[in-house]
Amino acid sequence: MHGVNLDVLGRRDPELYGRLTLPELEVRVKRFARELGLDVSFSQTNHEGQFCENLHRAAGGADGVVLNPGAWTHYSWAIHDALEVAGLPAVEVHLSGVDEREEWRRVSVIRDLCVGCVQGKGVDGYRDALQMLKEALPV
Ligand code: DQA
Repeated sequence: MHGVNLDVLGRRDPELYGRLTLPELEVRVKRFARELGLDVSFSQTNHEGQFCENLHRAAGGADGVVLNPGAWTHYSWAIHDALEVAGLPAVEVHLSGVDEREEWRRVSVIRDLCVGCVQGKGVDGYRDALQMLKEALPV
């Protein structure tokens, strides 16, 4: 689940976020998932309420969630609560190393609900995130 401003990947600072567009990133993630024997579906929105509703819906159709809420990560208690409602194993992922950046980015209001966090590894971080999620799923 991609959050705010992830739709404009490819136009954001390549030093931080790489050069892939979101569709290109999704092709890579789909490949990682296939290698791990997982099925993935994607969503992206720039609207916080929509992201919450997508989380509510995820509970009905997914076994787990990998989420990059973008800047919402750092302050959206609404997304925190919606993730709690979803009640699914979740992994937080960031393309950039948020814990090494500005003070305000070092705060994550969703981390306590996640089984793990991968950051600073670019698109490859999504492979690690899927692997972590797989390990957290019941067998
Ligand atoms: C991000 C990091 C956030 O701080 C930022 O607001 C983003 C992207 C990342 O993937 O590195 O939009 O989540």
